[in-house]
Amino acid sequence: MAEKEFTALGPTILVHVELPQAKNQEDLEELHRLAESAGAEICDAIVCRRDGIDPRTYIGSGKVQEVAAAVQAHEAEVVVFNSPLTPAQERNLEKEIGVRVMDRIALILVIFAMRARTYEGKLQVELAQLHYEQARLVRGWTHLERQKGGFGLRGGPGETQIELDRRALRERIAAIKEDLEVVARRREQNRAQRKKNAIPVVSFVGYTNAGKSTLFNRLTRSEVYAADQLFATLDPTLRNMVLPTIGKVVFADTVGFIRHLPHELVAAFRATLEETVQSDLLLHIIDIADPRIEENMEAVQAVLAQIKADQVPSLLVFNKSDLNAEVAAGIVRDESGKPLRVNVSAKTGAGLDDLLKAVAELLTLDQCEFTVCLQPQDGKLRSLLYETKAIEGSSYDEQGHEHLQIKLKPSDAARLNKLTAGRLGACVEGFTGKGLPWEQEEDFGFEDVE
Ligand code: GTP
Repeated sequence: MAEKEFTALGPTILVHVELPQAKNQEDLEELHRLAESAGAEICDAIVCRRDGIDPRTYIGSGKVQEVAAAVQAHEAEVVVFNSPLTPAQERNLEKEIGVRVMDRIALILVIFAMRARTYEGKLQVELAQLHYEQARLVRGWTHLERQKGGFGLRGGPGETQIELDRRALRERIAAIKEDLEVVARRREQNRAQRKKNAIPVVSFVGYTNAGKSTLFNRLTRSEVYAADQLFATLDPTLRNMVLPTIGKVVFADTVGFIRHLPHELVAAFRATLEETVQSDLLLHIIDIADPRIEENMEAVQAVLAQIKADQVPSLLVFNKSDLNAEVAAGIVRDESGKPLRVNVSAKTGAGLDDLLKAVAELLTLDQCEFTVCLQPQDGKLRSLLYETKAIEGSSYDEQGHEHLQIKLKPSDAARLNKLTAGRLGACVEGFTGKGLPWEQEEDFGFEDVE
């Protein structure tokens, strides 16, 4: 199927509704940034204070007239609501205002669609969009021809067209699911290979616009798209790096998190977010110049908990230190000397060597610990373990068998196991700490690393 082009939104009116004691109130400034990220030229932002929601149009007929007048005055093409609209409300609003109306989820889907780069990312976005559209494709829905800036298979009016659209949607959803399964199988093979080689994965997470891509580029000298827009990065991009004392490490740039990331989207991007869950270390990138630093950190923690990645060890990275003279680049440690936070500037490069140092330190902490029982014919394994300085203690039992206490990096464990054709794994008696890399559960996959 030909790739769809996603055009920018064009002239747009924002509508923000404030309800008394509303929980999870979205913020207007964020909607501004989201709409700009979707290429919208914002003509006006209308704020409504209401005691309750109007079931038919969300904002009530008086306010609808005001929005319609603003649309006419500015020749706007799109109205974006900062609240979730039901399909019926969206339909009623479009009828009365005469242009395309979308809610915050639809807007985020447009942005995701514009940003998706890998084949899998594009399929995931399209599937999320089709599900969203399926819920809205109801009788009488196609009263407007609305292709611009949108996603979808909506055609002209008429019952037959609706039926055709419904079938086309179902068929496309089935086809995408099949394609995604093929991609998932390939990822599984890559993942198995990576696990075998025990390459640690370090993922960048952070509130959108924190500077993840800029930092990722700078560190890995790659050319991931970095721009001053929300969601500049959608697909995880993986790069190999070699760190002193550690060896090969995979760095993964992931999707930018956002407050109240809708559940549908978390589900759609499960595979993308799973990179995060499966990581050995998370670098939580924080924009220290953002006045909402604490809320942003909380929003990231909430998404991490939502995707069950809150147990993965993490390191805070305070980015944009060039914008705050009070923050000196470098490592901040806890009482035990363990790196807690690193202050950096992805822009100037300050603190980046410290960041790599802290990453190497934290990955080294994550060593495998176990005991092995060696037989007389295990001379090669014994000398390899000595060479790697992996032996912490040794003893002999009554039968004359040698028992060794081993502590070594997952990558070394995998290497020695390979060099001895699996003998290291076969000699293991028990674990006193973290298990062997190839014995960990293999639930998720990874993409290719060039
Ligand atoms: P998403 O992909 O939307 O999640 O964003 P991101 O976290 O990948 O942010 P990105 O790297 O695209 O950077 C966002 C903006 O911050 C860009 O305009 C960068 O130039 C700017 N930026 C990133 N790092 C720094 C920094 O250390 N100092 C300054 N002053 N600006 C920075």
